[in-house]
Amino acid sequence: MISAPTWFGSDGFAISAEAISPRRNRTPPPSPSATVPLPFGGGFNCSIQKINLGKVKTTMKVGIGNDHAGAELKMEIVKHLEEIGVEYIDYGVAVGEKIDYPDAAERVCREVVAGNVDRAILICGTGIGISIAANKIKGIRACACSDSFSAKYTRLHNDANALCLGGRVVGPGLANELVDLFLTTEFEGGRHQRRVDLITKLEEKN
Ligand code: RB5
Repeated sequence: MISAPTWFGSDGFAISAEAISPRRNRTPPPSPSATVPLPFGGGFNCSIQKINLGKVKTTMKVGIGNDHAGAELKMEIVKHLEEIGVEYIDYGVAVGEKIDYPDAAERVCREVVAGNVDRAILICGTGIGISIAANKIKGIRACACSDSFSAKYTRLHNDANALCLGGRVVGPGLANELVDLFLTTEFEGGRHQRRVDLITKLEEKN
């Protein structure tokens, strides 16, 4: 279990921020540790933990949607899902085709709500427009993510069912790590269930 917040290096190692800002009375993170150099000299110590995202083990079916600004990144994510053996349906447009991001979001999110796919991965230029649109659909909890901490915690705490990515914000390596975290992290439930239920109640007030 990796302490949060966590960043992932391109080599598959996770860097724990606890080493940067240690909390009081907390047991120091296990070795190995390393000194991360800073560009202006010096550095800080951080713990390095090997994580194994490996092959994502899930029977989940994913629906993918994208507008024209997300088509290239979508291709990379589709390739990744095929490599790790996750079933998907591509509802998005191809490179060179156009669609407005609210329409792209709706196509996939309706399928999630109908139970035809389990989760959505949505891509536009920033990840923001498509997440705003997705969150208008009853039953969708969408999060625009460009860091691994958010991708992990939106599953742990918000039970997010739509991951939104910006094709002009994240590169394919990071995007695929965010996808892995989104697909493999379980909702924690407990006090977070009560808060998710409050979101559902908010929807019902509309
Ligand atoms: C399309 O050009 C762009 O506005 C859209 O993909 C998205 O970034 C909106 O939030």
